[in-house]
Amino acid sequence: MSSRQVFLNDRFVPESEARVSIFDSALMFGDMAFEMTRTFGGEPFCLREHLDRLYASLDLLEIDCGMSPQRMDEVSREALALNAETEAEDVDWQIMHNVSRGPLGVYRSAFAGELQPTITINCWPLITHTGSFAPNYDTGIDVMIPAQQAVPAHLVDPKAKTRSRMHYQMANLQAARGGGGWPVLLDGDGFLCEGTGNNIFLVHGEQLLTPEPRNILLGVSRGVTIELAKKIGLDVRECNLGRYEALQADEIFCTATTYCLVHARSFEGKAFDNAPGPVFQRLLNAWIEHAGVDFVAQARDYHERLPVWEAVNQT
Ligand SMILES: Cc1ncc(COP(=O)(O)O)c(C=O)c1O
Repeated sequence: MSSRQVFLNDRFVPESEARVSIFDSALMFGDMAFEMTRTFGGEPFCLREHLDRLYASLDLLEIDCGMSPQRMDEVSREALALNAETEAEDVDWQIMHNVSRGPLGVYRSAFAGELQPTITINCWPLITHTGSFAPNYDTGIDVMIPAQQAVPAHLVDPKAKTRSRMHYQMANLQAARGGGGWPVLLDGDGFLCEGTGNNIFLVHGEQLLTPEPRNILLGVSRGVTIELAKKIGLDVRECNLGRYEALQADEIFCTATTYCLVHARSFEGKAFDNAPGPVFQRLLNAWIEHAGVDFVAQARDYHERLPVWEAVNQT
């Protein structure tokens, strides 16, 4: 059994005992904000940006979690320190924050005392996530447009990172049924939004294009990519982009916290001859330098180690 510890509301408990009530608003409504941060060399990467987004999501959901951002930062680092010793030193981590309103008032009698928001902070070794992802760095991914559309900001703003994600799951199911590509959702006007767990970028010559921040989550990795792209002299534009612009792109790639960035080898069945293209390569190098860890080499190494890790960690 794992010896990892999870912060649950006000204390650390063993991971196997960390449970959220069936009466929690998270279960009833998907009423929960969350964040996923990764470490590089054991240090949380962009934790402030992730916690800023967590508290912005909580503002939109009108949840007062009762914990200051500073305390959240401290407890996150405490969680990491507590769990780090359960893995080899070269294993990096995912830190996940989940915060809900807590149990619904109508079930008050099932709980002792006042109902409280639910806060969990857990750490998971990235060996499973990036280890199983590693082959994608070599092959690239196939991007496709699913029938499922994005939920537009005038209904529920996707800038808040919430557990209300059925539309993303529908898109995943459609993509799996359609051959296993990576879905990128369109909005109601036919503009590209984002993947079900990533942001998308198109390369047109020396221009880097990405959907404007209207109907998307403002990915932390998206922000890092934009900054790095400007530093290496690319002309970055956030604008309306459709299927047309994606079909005309020289390169396409996606960004997200755990794997940082991955190139597309095709879009809607149209293959890129030169993938990964030169702009992606420049950005990947800039990312690796910025992170201070060659996360591609690391993922390949985790990939090799994953079968043994799984055998040892099987409960
Ligand atoms: C819908 C969605 N878009 C984009 C992203 C990428 O965000 P980040 O770079 O902060 O991981 C995520 C990450 O989970 C996501 O869920």
